Amino acid sequence: MVVMTIRGPPLLVSLLFGIVTAAETHFTSPEVLPSPETHGVGWTDAYNKADDLVSRLTIEQKASLVTGYYGASGCNGNIAPIPSLGFGGLCLQDGPVGIRLADLGSTFPAGLTAAATWDKDLIYDRGKAVGSEFRGKGANVMLGPVGGPLGRHSLGGRNWEGFSPDPYLTGVAMASSIKGIQDAGVQASAKHFIGNEQETMRGGSLTANGTVVDAISSNIDDRTMHELYLWPFADAVKSGVSSVMCSYNRVNQTYSCENSKILNGLLKGELGFQGYVVSDWSATHSGVKAITSGLDMNMPGPISDADPTSNSTYFGQNITLAVNNGSLPEDRLDDMARRVLTPYFFLGQDSTDFPTVDPSTIYVLLQTYGYSAASLGLPPAPASRDVRQDHKKLIREMGAAGVVLLKNTNGTLPLRNQTNIGVFGNSAGDVTDGLYYEGTKASRTGFGFQQGTLSVGGGSGTGRSTYIISPLQALLERSDARVQYILDNEFIASGDLSSIYPTPDVCLVFLKTWASEGYDRTSFENDWDSMAVVNNVTAKCPNTVVITHSGGVNTMPWASNPNVTAILAAHYPGQESGNSIVDVLYGDVNPSGRLPYTIPAKESDYDIPVVNVTGPEALDSSAWQSDFAEGLFIDYRYFDAKNITPLFEFGFGLSYTTYGVNEPPSVKSVNNISSPFPLPSTTVAPGGNPDLYTEMFNVKANVSNTGAVPGAAVLQLYVSLKDAAVPEGTPVRVLRGFEKVHIEPGDSVAVQFQLTRRDLSFWNTTAQDWQIPTGDALLSLGFSSRDLRSSSKVRLL
Ligand SMILES: *[C@@H]1O[C@H](CO)[C@@H](O)[C@H](O)[C@H]1NC(C)=O
Ligand SMILES: *[C@@H]1O[C@H](CO)[C@@H](O)[C@H](O)[C@H]1NC(C)=O
Ligand SMILES: *[C@@H]1O[C@H](CO)[C@@H](O)[C@H](O)[C@H]1NC(C)=O
Ligand SMILES: *[C@@H]1O[C@H](CO)[C@@H](O)[C@H](O)[C@H]1NC(C)=O
Ligand SMILES: *[C@@H]1O[C@H](CO)[C@@H](O)[C@H](O)[C@H]1NC(C)=O
Ligand SMILES: *[C@@H]1O[C@H](CO)[C@@H](O)[C@H](O)[C@H]1NC(C)=O
Ligand SMILES: *[C@@H]1O[C@H](CO)[C@@H](O)[C@H](O)[C@H]1NC(C)=O
Ligand SMILES: *[C@@H]1O[C@H](CO)[C@@H](O)[C@H](O)[C@H]1NC(C)=O
Ligand SMILES: *[C@@H]1O[C@H](CO)[C@@H](O)[C@H](O)[C@H]1NC(C)=O
Ligand SMILES: *[C@@H]1O[C@H](CO)[C@@H](O)[C@H](O)[C@H]1NC(C)=O
Ligand SMILES: *[C@@H]1O[C@H](CO)[C@@H](O)[C@H](O)[C@H]1NC(C)=O
Ligand SMILES: *[C@@H]1O[C@H](CO)[C@@H](O)[C@H](O)[C@H]1NC(C)=O
Repeated sequence: MVVMTIRGPPLLVSLLFGIVTAAETHFTSPEVLPSPETHGVGWTDAYNKADDLVSRLTIEQKASLVTGYYGASGCNGNIAPIPSLGFGGLCLQDGPVGIRLADLGSTFPAGLTAAATWDKDLIYDRGKAVGSEFRGKGANVMLGPVGGPLGRHSLGGRNWEGFSPDPYLTGVAMASSIKGIQDAGVQASAKHFIGNEQETMRGGSLTANGTVVDAISSNIDDRTMHELYLWPFADAVKSGVSSVMCSYNRVNQTYSCENSKILNGLLKGELGFQGYVVSDWSATHSGVKAITSGLDMNMPGPISDADPTSNSTYFGQNITLAVNNGSLPEDRLDDMARRVLTPYFFLGQDSTDFPTVDPSTIYVLLQTYGYSAASLGLPPAPASRDVRQDHKKLIREMGAAGVVLLKNTNGTLPLRNQTNIGVFGNSAGDVTDGLYYEGTKASRTGFGFQQGTLSVGGGSGTGRSTYIISPLQALLERSDARVQYILDNEFIASGDLSSIYPTPDVCLVFLKTWASEGYDRTSFENDWDSMAVVNNVTAKCPNTVVITHSGGVNTMPWASNPNVTAILAAHYPGQESGNSIVDVLYGDVNPSGRLPYTIPAKESDYDIPVVNVTGPEALDSSAWQSDFAEGLFIDYRYFDAKNITPLFEFGFGLSYTTYGVNEPPSVKSVNNISSPFPLPSTTVAPGGNPDLYTEMFNVKANVSNTGAVPGAAVLQLYVSLKDAAVPEGTPVRVLRGFEKVHIEPGDSVAVQFQLTRRDLSFWNTTAQDWQIPTGDALLSLGFSSRDLRSSSKVRLL
């Protein structure tokens, strides 16, 4: 957490002191005022209830509705109840892999794993199941899902909490997650808005002598903002998300939580967002300025997280003062209060059925942060409310569905009748440092804990597991084979495999890569001497299967080793980790995961490094600039533009069967494109101009299972506008549809895609609108971004 005070804009400071700072050469944000009011579009009844309640509130009560405080509830964030008016208050809790500050909840697969399933239904089910656990614990708001970081940096520390560097895939996953969470009666909070692509210096720092150094500034041009980083948030708003969380970083020099261009302009204006903007914890840097710029709720409330006994806040009493002294119009405060209350009524959270906060939660919080409940005079902890239901089934299924089979030679997998199996590596066995990583010393390093399987990453997005099934445990339960194992990577790297006799029929090597909020990764390879581990095992074992547990992109310098006969990227599977991977290894589940990112052959092929200023310059705020100069060319868009062959491309994944698709696909024009621009929007609609979502073409194809076992294919639709009149910087092709279908051997299944106006447009910065270019679009269907099997050219305009 960071402590901040308000400072003058860098430009002003540099003019005063006559020095030229780096900030002057970088983008700046324009001011967009006033903050658009909500009309509760899509939530009419709830809006009317909110409006009625707000009309009965005092200024102080309205200020309290938008200001967090340190309640004794155990929630990460609290809005105080107003019992006399029947408002029960709000409890905001960390997600998104599960409710973090609670006992007897589940730890679900990470967002990255969810994305790797490419399964909209499973992603919805995950959202609904997680949401039901939050509700069960009395949490009104789940802080998730994550649409940013998108994954500009391969080594971004929080990429695993979100979905994919592809905005379309992330957008679909955001929408499915939000529908699931809110169908469970819990408010989703889409985060982090926006440009929070690196953890390094994300929030600024305080130097030893008390000088504030400002956070990294993500300097993003307008087109890149629309076509990459804002895209998934448009889907989130369209799906009716209750809340959006502004991020720690600056955008074009201005802190996100007081950046009127992004909050008033893009989010509430262009995207028509009707809910409330909540600050990330301590990401607020001003009162009236932030409020007029579009911030609606300040969390956790007090200015300094470091001093929970202080109630000093930019909001709270300062809001009352500001309204009374005329610097803040009361209308704006009313709008903030309506924005906060509308989702609460819409989701029926005012009902007496809505559970109270589980009284055990405060004990979990106190212990997590190192306080003794007894020393605070609290009675012994009550029993925790168990909210896990039968979610372990879904977790196991999704953990397996998010495994991507990358290599499978010599018919190594699925395993069959092997009677002698070797297991190696420190992600194979039981965890040895506890079931909850956040708060342990190991979680605060770049590599996490050494011994034991890695089921999810660290930071506020981690989970408090009640158990974690390790791969070794699951294998011993599944198989009657003799299982020999060495789990200590240092020992394996020393080369001493003399305990292993006879040589196993197959050796399974489990590697891991730690990733956590607060840190960016520093290495592309898996952690803990992974290269030496693989080489030492393959030297002995010609049939070696490598399985990675990782929060993102890894290079695999051992991939072409002929003794590495199979590779599986198992991502962060959640608490059923071992069962999920064993289901895939034995073919009980046919692997159907696909890479939601690109794996480069070597790190120099693709690396947009995080900005890490060192030395005396690091103390200069203006030095922390991240120019998104690559524009749209991140992940596969970069490899395609530069014609670089990756090791494994975006969308790739093998199966135990094979698939085909008919050629060419059938393409039907649904609506004539009469204008390059959408019809001017006359009403506010969540998601932006409704005409952007008008279906233009319908694409149909048949996918067939050409192999011998049942499986699930992921048919992907890519759109190329490169033969149309598009501006420079347009990607070769972009994902614009995907469907996962289960198919029996010899059968085929019809799949269809609806291509909307937005899917076929680029963002015209002059017109400030989405534009369909003149010329042809190439629509291609296939099984990865580089395995395109069937295509059709259509005339756009
Ligand atoms: C950032 O500055 C660039 C260049 O002026 C501009 O295109 C973009 O719209 C700005 N974005 C924000 C959020 O200020
Ligand atoms: C604090 O330290 C910074 C960096 O060393 C320096 O530039 C600044 O002048 C110092 N401020 C004070 C008040 O000493
Ligand atoms: C902070 O505010 C809470 C709730 O309004 C109140 O109970 C508490 O006494 C206050 N603490 C301080 C130190 O003022
Ligand atoms: C009002 O905000 C200022 C910072 O601008 C802070 O120092 C002060 O403590 C706040 N007042 C209250 C009552 O929270
Ligand atoms: C009004 O009150 C706000 C909040 O305390 C304060 O920041 C601002 O300076 C005050 N303005 C005037 C004109 O007194
Ligand atoms: C497994 O069975 C197949 C044929 O069913 C046989 O060819 C192979 O040698 C067996 N492998 C082991 C390790 O027993
Ligand atoms: C085992 O790993 C070590 C590095 O730790 C390396 O020096 C040695 O050559 C490796 N042995 C084999 C057989 O690859
Ligand atoms: C940034 O630099 C610091 C200090 O040299 C180092 O400890 C840290 O690992 C670096 N972070 C990254 C992401 O490279
Ligand atoms: C592969 O295994 C064979 C047989 O055990 C061994 O001779 C060879 O050195 C191994 N190759 C590598 C690259 O480890
Ligand atoms: C796997 O296949 C390759 C190529 O056919 C062969 O060289 C190698 O010996 C095989 N390995 C095993 C374990 O069968
Ligand atoms: C598109 O325009 C053509 C020619 O004007 C017309 O024949 C066709 O019916 C229109 N299609 C749709 C879907 O409106
Ligand atoms: C963008 O829109 C403007 C009109 O606002 C137009 O002049 C320009 O040609 C458009 N750009 C492209 C690449 O079509």
